[in-house]
Amino acid sequence: MTPLPATATAPTAAASDAPAHRRAPTAPGALPLLGHGPALLRRPLEFLGSLPAAGPVVRVRLGALPAYVVNDADLVRAVLVGEAGRFDQGVLIEKVRPLLGSGVGTADGAEHRRLRRLMQPAFHRDRIARYAATMTAVAAERTALWRPGETLRADEEMNALALTTVARALFSSDPGADAVTEVRRSLPLVLDEIPRRSMLPDALLRLPTPANRRFDRAVRRLRAATRHVVAAARADGSDRGDLLSVLLLTADEATGERLTDDQVHDQLVNMLVAGTETTGATLAWIFHELARHPVVEQRLHEETDRVLAGRAAVFEDIPRLSYTLRVVREALRRYAPWIILRHSPGEVILGDVLVPAGAAVLFSPYVLHHQPRLHPDPLAFDPDRWLPERAARLPKGASIPFGAGGRQCPGNVFALTQAVLQVATIAARWRLRPADGGPRVRELARGAVVHPTAMPMRCLPRERAGGR
Ligand code: HEM
Repeated sequence: MTPLPATATAPTAAASDAPAHRRAPTAPGALPLLGHGPALLRRPLEFLGSLPAAGPVVRVRLGALPAYVVNDADLVRAVLVGEAGRFDQGVLIEKVRPLLGSGVGTADGAEHRRLRRLMQPAFHRDRIARYAATMTAVAAERTALWRPGETLRADEEMNALALTTVARALFSSDPGADAVTEVRRSLPLVLDEIPRRSMLPDALLRLPTPANRRFDRAVRRLRAATRHVVAAARADGSDRGDLLSVLLLTADEATGERLTDDQVHDQLVNMLVAGTETTGATLAWIFHELARHPVVEQRLHEETDRVLAGRAAVFEDIPRLSYTLRVVREALRRYAPWIILRHSPGEVILGDVLVPAGAAVLFSPYVLHHQPRLHPDPLAFDPDRWLPERAARLPKGASIPFGAGGRQCPGNVFALTQAVLQVATIAARWRLRPADGGPRVRELARGAVVHPTAMPMRCLPRERAGGR
């Protein structure tokens, strides 16, 4: 990307043509030498949550890197949409390149747009309708193993549910079944390592420490398993209705080109990484909130009883599961991804603040979703915020669980469909309650996701009103 001249302004984000730029205020609490790094690492939600009080754009000191945190919904929207062309993924993304390769999450500019075009057909409505059967089947299979009264780790269970769903939607073939097993073994190891890797210098990541060796082995196993499925699917050549078939068969409308096996492989891994813990954590938070809010739970049960009468949910049920969808939307507001990162190769003016060339620019959907001006009483879990007449009054950019603009999550409809179908299917049969004397559940920012800490819950079979 060509760096912008020093006088460039970002029209939707900038004040008029008056050169009234100022330096962003520096966030309070910087430590000598270490700056704000320790605060961001140790208590990220609290630290980022304190920054809107310091201004719409705030400078933070993270080592040598100039970094700017954007706290204002309009300016965040400018970074994601209006002025998106002035930002790229930056150097931090290089840390995860061994895993993500040259997939959509690491690409910029024309290559990014090409990869998005080639991925898009995988998420068309008719495809989602086909994956819906997998989503329901996976929920029904896993819950069939639950025993009345048993205690399970709901956080782990929901992650396993999400991971199995995405992996099966990606590759439904027979060789795919082995890959799903391998993904379930290796992917959690890899995802756990990403936060550490994004903070350590490259030299340390190359040392043969046990953690680095474990990461390298897991990445190798994961890539070998997924490569094998790609090669088998290419040889087979048919459309099996899974995501992999779409990636192999779609040709670029402009050039007629298709993705190579390596590119298909990288796209698959990007989807596995982006689409598992995000949905897994959302599902876990939903069952946590249902257990704490009997009225919300009762309304959800009334809906699932009326619509499903004890059976598993199917795609055609979705329009009638409107309260379930509001519960999902509220969980996505309350527990949105906590960080999105960009880099500005040239100078950009955000509001009246000058962001210098080479800066990291970051913002937090989680923090935005907790601003009382945008979402009154933000800690309250209130699905009725998403009643159409109330949601219509929200300012643009106030709700961005999936980001926005050219990098908006391509899996958003997939994720919403999955969450609605799986929550409804589970809630039609089961109620989850915190285990007696279990630990207090806290929010843990890991990767880009706000995870729950250990969430042991008891599975109680439901007696539907009117019996079964
Ligand atoms: C509750 C579930 C999910 C949430 C909250 C979520 C959130 C997000 C967000 C905020 C971004 C944009 C990050 C940015 O602007 O840099 C993103 C990107 C992405 N997501 Fe999701 N996601 C979810 C589920 C999924 C699923 C199920 C898939 C695929 C099956 C998926 C695939 C992707 C991919 C490939 C990207 C990268 C897009 C790009 O860089 O152009 N996500 N996701």
